[in-house]
Amino acid sequence: MGRIIAIANQKGGVGKTTTAINLSACLAEKGKKVLAIDMDPQGNMTSGLGVDKDSVEKTVYDLIIGEAQIEEIICKEVLENLDVLPTNIDLSAAEIELIGIENKEYIIKNEVEKVKENYDFIIIDCPPSLSMLTINAMTTADSVLVPIQCEYYALEGLSQLIHTIELVKERLNSNLEIEGVVFTMYDARTNLSLQVVENVKDNLNQNIYKTIIPRNIRLAEAPSYGMPINQYDPKSSGAESYRLLADEVIEKEE
Ligand SMILES: Nc1ncnc2c1ncn2[C@@H]1O[C@H](COP(=O)(O)OP(=O)(O)OP(=O)(O)O)[C@@H](O)[C@H]1O
Ligand SMILES: [Mg+2]
Repeated sequence: MGRIIAIANQKGGVGKTTTAINLSACLAEKGKKVLAIDMDPQGNMTSGLGVDKDSVEKTVYDLIIGEAQIEEIICKEVLENLDVLPTNIDLSAAEIELIGIENKEYIIKNEVEKVKENYDFIIIDCPPSLSMLTINAMTTADSVLVPIQCEYYALEGLSQLIHTIELVKERLNSNLEIEGVVFTMYDARTNLSLQVVENVKDNLNQNIYKTIIPRNIRLAEAPSYGMPINQYDPKSSGAESYRLLADEVIEKEE
């Protein structure tokens, strides 16, 4: 049965989408059946996995407004073992559409339940906000994986995020756990990256992944080719590190 992991941090640009794309692709490469769900209206996970977000007929938005069933929306075998639930800018209207709707926190959960059995892992990319879209991801998920960028303000907003996760656990999804934090954009040439990692380790009482994602230009280039890193540059340090992260995620599951 599928383990559902939401990749969340309301801080922008910390590597959520890069992690969601490449963790999904590396899990699939290792033979796991994966569904990647894009909950961010920016649709960067969708396009980064090679799906043309502007030509897909139906998206997560249609699920939210009840105009489609999940099976109709899934783009199958985008890569071997990897399906995608696509999104585009239409989803930015979802917040408004949800006003006054009953059980609006569970719309995605109820749809994902129908297909969960078909997958080993379901990875959800969240938008950079603690919005109803993120709440929908957290009610659907078994756990939340938090990317932390190795920069000076790394811990900013983290207590808010943890508080949100705890509230969701208390009120909406008692199964929810914090999967752990993963450091991203680590720059071995600066002391700052090292200091941030040490500081977070000292101050954060959460599981921290051993794998640290380095700053690697190939990771930033890959999305414009619609490819995850293991396809775009399989031997790059970015590809190697996301494979190791996938190993850790699989290990934790077992
Ligand atoms: N390890 C890395 N090395 C180099 N560039 C990276 C790395 N990780 C992410 N980037 C780049 O940093 C930028 C932000 O990354 P990404 O889009 O994954 O963050 P995000 O948290 O999803 O952002 P948002 O909050 O807007 O959704 C992107 O241009 C991405 O290509
Ligand atoms: Mg993103």
